[in-house]
Parts: sequence; C-alpha cells; structure tokens
Amino acid sequence: MSESFKKFIRKNNLCPVCLMKKLMASTKINVNGADRFNNGVALTPPMGWASWNLFRNNINENIIKEMAAAMKAAHLDELGYQYINVDDCWMSSVRDENGRLQGDLGTFPSGIKALVEAVNSYGLKMGIYTSNGTLTCEDLPSSLYHERTDAETFAEWGVEYFKYDFCHNEAIPTIAPEIEKILISRKGESEFLTLLAEDAELRGDAVILEDEKLTLSGKYITGLSNASGSAVFYDIDIPEDGEYTLTLGIRKTVRKDKYCEIIVNGDKTYALRFPGTKGPSREGRGQTTVHLKKGKNSFYIHNPIGSRMDSAAKQYQNMGKELMRATKKVAEETGRPEKPICFSICEWGINKPWKWGATAGNLWRTTPDIRPEWLSIIGIYEATVRLYEYAGPGNWNDPDMLEVGNGNLTDSENEAHFSLWCMLAAPLILGNDLRKFIKEDGCVDVNNKVLKVISNKKAIAINQDKLGVQCRRIKTNGITDVLVKPLTNREVAVCLLNKGNGKKDVSFSIKELTQLGFVDLPVSDRYTVHDIWENTTFVASDIINQNLNGHSVKLYKIQAMG
Ligand code: GLA
Repeated sequence: MSESFKKFIRKNNLCPVCLMKKLMASTKINVNGADRFNNGVALTPPMGWASWNLFRNNINENIIKEMAAAMKAAHLDELGYQYINVDDCWMSSVRDENGRLQGDLGTFPSGIKALVEAVNSYGLKMGIYTSNGTLTCEDLPSSLYHERTDAETFAEWGVEYFKYDFCHNEAIPTIAPEIEKILISRKGESEFLTLLAEDAELRGDAVILEDEKLTLSGKYITGLSNASGSAVFYDIDIPEDGEYTLTLGIRKTVRKDKYCEIIVNGDKTYALRFPGTKGPSREGRGQTTVHLKKGKNSFYIHNPIGSRMDSAAKQYQNMGKELMRATKKVAEETGRPEKPICFSICEWGINKPWKWGATAGNLWRTTPDIRPEWLSIIGIYEATVRLYEYAGPGNWNDPDMLEVGNGNLTDSENEAHFSLWCMLAAPLILGNDLRKFIKEDGCVDVNNKVLKVISNKKAIAINQDKLGVQCRRIKTNGITDVLVKPLTNREVAVCLLNKGNGKKDVSFSIKELTQLGFVDLPVSDRYTVHDIWENTTFVASDIINQNLNGHSVKLYKIQAMG
C-alpha cells in the first residue's frame, strides 16, 4: 500500500480491510435470464472449419474458397459442419478511407464481401476474426475502440461467425476520475449550468476532499474507483428535451488512465475515459453528448470496473451488443432476413470467461492455444471438463479448434480427441486440410481415416444432442476417466478414457448411472450399448469392463430396453 493511500485512509477514517476486500473482489455477474447473450444461434455447439491450426498466417482467398469447396464435396455440410472461418491475417495493415477494416490488398484482393458470397454459394457460412485489442495476435488492425464500425462492416459483408481474440488488449481502468464539477450546455451554445462536487449525494466509499488549486470551489469527489463508490446528482433542471454537452471537470493528479460511467435518468450509460496526466495544470476535462429531458434529470456516476475480469467481461459484452445491433440494422436496411453472428470469445481462460461468457457471447475459449499433441489435448480437456455447469444451449465452453488430422496424432489419438470434444459439448471447428478428403478424380476418399473420425454421425449426434449438457467426470484415478453425458430420449453417452501410455482396465456400472442425479436413464434389467467407433451393439445389464490401450477411448451410447 502506498504512503499516500495510507494517508488517504487515515484522513478519511476508512476501514483498510474493507477497502482491500473491495479492491480484490470481482463483480459477480448474474448470467440468468435477461443477462444471457441470446442471438438465437449456436443452440447446439457450432460446427465448421477454421484456418489457424493448419495455415497460421499463410492464408489467401483461394485457400478459403478451396476449403469451402472441399467441405461441400466431402458432404461435411450434411453432417452439420457449416462455418468456414478465416482466422488471423486476413486484414490489410491499413483501414480503408472510411476507417473500415479491409482484406489484405495482396492476398484477399477481391475483398471480404466477395469471399463471403463465394462461401455462401456452397450453402456455407463465413466466419471472421479480429482481436479485442488495438492489434491482432499477428499485429494487424483490430477492433478495440472500433467496435461499432467493425461490427457494422462484418454484418454488411454477411459474416455469420466472429472470433474475438485478446491480444493487445487494453484493460478498462479501475481508477475513476476525481470530479470537481459538471458543466451542462445545450449543443452549440456556450451558456451552461454548473453542478459542484458538493451538490452530489455520495454512496459507498465516495467522499469530498479539498484542493485549493481547484479554482471553482476547491472541492472534489474521490473514492469512486474499483466499483466502490458512486456520486448521484438529482433534480437537475433542464428547460427542454434534447442533446446536451456534458463536461466533467476533473482533478488531474493521477498518472494512470481513468474511467467512469454516467447513467443518465437511470437509463442510458455514457462511458468516459481519461488519459493518465502529464500536463502541469490541476484541472482537466472530459466531454460527452447526452440526451436530457425537460424537467428533472439525474446523473449516477461510478466506475463499475473492479478488476481485470470486469474489464474483459465489459469489453466482450460491448462487442456482443454491437454485433447484435449491427445484424438487426443491416436486416432493417436491406429488407433481407437477419444473419445473426455467432460470437466466439477467445480470451484463453485468463479472466475466467466461463463466469461471464454467457452474458457476452455464444462460446468462450477455456485455455491457451491447442497444439496437435496428446499432452496439449489432455491438458485442455482437464481444464474444461470441470466447467460443465457453465455450458448450455446458446453459450458453450470452447476447448479450442480441433487438431484431428494435424501433426503426428495417431488414429487412436484423433478418435479420442474427437470423442472428448463431443462429450464436452464443444464447438467442432475442424483445423485440418479438408482438400485431402477429395481424390484427384473429384470423388470423396471414403477410406481416409481422418474423414472417418470427423464424420462419424453417432459421435456427432452426441455432441449435437439437443439437451446441450456437457459431460461430467464420474470417476478418475488420474490415468483413466469415466465421463457421462445425458442425452435426449432418456439415453446417455459414456466415454472411457485412458490418458496414460500403457494398457489399463476401465469399468463402470450402468446401474450406478441410473442413480446419478444429472442422468435420466430408466432402471431396467437390460440395456443396449452401442460402441460408437466399432459400430457394434450389444446387450448389458450392469458392469462394463474394458482393457484400453494408452491414448485411447471407448465411446458408448446406452439406452434402456423394453
Ligand atoms: C491466438 C488465438 C489462436 C489464433 C491466433 C491467431 O493465439 O488463441 O486461436 O486465433 O491468436 O493469431
């Protein structure tokens, strides 16, 4: 704690423990009901292909078109795969003359709108990517502070999936400005109404302190930082409805950026950001245009950002709102049906996006990037399997794009990776070269082992089951796990996993499944058990025991008989 902060606490007779608690606490966001991000898409986990895992920065418009053609030719669209997602590096390093993002002028010369049309011509949907930062992870222009323009651009292009990364992010400051006065003037006029610090009703940690260098009254409001205090101005008499310029007069001492929000008449929120000061004078100002009504108005001023998590949540929520607004706007303007944009939050799990992701978008990455290696796949699975309570129709945990068919993954590892993502109700976004599924004569290579894995209809049905429930791990000894995923029609999927290198026995009891609170399997003497990868069915009454090879799974669908 700095000396000046200690002095501040002593001077104002504040309780240091309560203050520290408040500083460290992160706002708990309620993800029920109205707060839930609901754009009507991704009611089952999204399915498609994305460019990053295979091509990294080496993409161009022809590769994207070839992938769309291959997806169609391999009939993957008939299995539910529908998005063709262009990841990082599609954009030019310069925005166009209207400040809009544009495709790289050399590798995407026809422009993104034309590419969307090409992808749509296969009956597929196109996805795009930027970062919730000033640049993408590959240091190209990005959407932080350009949310409205970029959302509108994507909607106008007809994009239907948007992945929003976290590189070059700038967090919203938790520090609030110290407010000396508020000036309110009619737009275009210089006469104004002045509100002073003393006119406010203070809540929480907000206090009024003195600084003789402030010329008007020598007093200012402080203690609004870290979501811990607020200042409310009531009964602000305004002669007529209209747009007004609001100038916040602040005390300039802190060298860090500052942020606050003004809620006008309990309704519309206006955000103000102030740079860390280097200037010599004590008084600074920030302006915004607000709508005021005739008669009495109120301003509620606070900084709701108490932590990095609050900041990330707010920024992703912002973009989610802009996307929804933009697709509606385009539909209204063109008279064409709305094309909602599936919003993929790629924040790598660092600010616990499972806690707030459902208020902001359709899916959220739970971890850093996947690699085509068994340990990476298992690490990501371990981090995601425990997050089952956060996933559901419209809002999913995202353990990252599939690596099936990439690197040196064995057939058994590919099968296990795909099975785990199906059990996790994860987005099935392929990351491999779809062109390999098509032979030179243009026919599908039905013997392609990777194709067989990613097109297994029964495995996909487990992933796409309408209940939308993520699996739970019901048993583990560290090396072997038993996963259970409830399905519609009182059926259940069970996955036995051997994470280790050597052979291992894994078993479970069907009777015990009927006792699990989250499963609705009827009690019965006999069950049909379908082995998804062997494509065989057998009848069982209780214990199933398997000797599993290392790095492999058994995937079953179980149904009560008669
Ligand atoms: C981050 C993301 C990846 C990919 C790259 C692109 O690392 O997590 O999935 O989008 O950026 O640069």
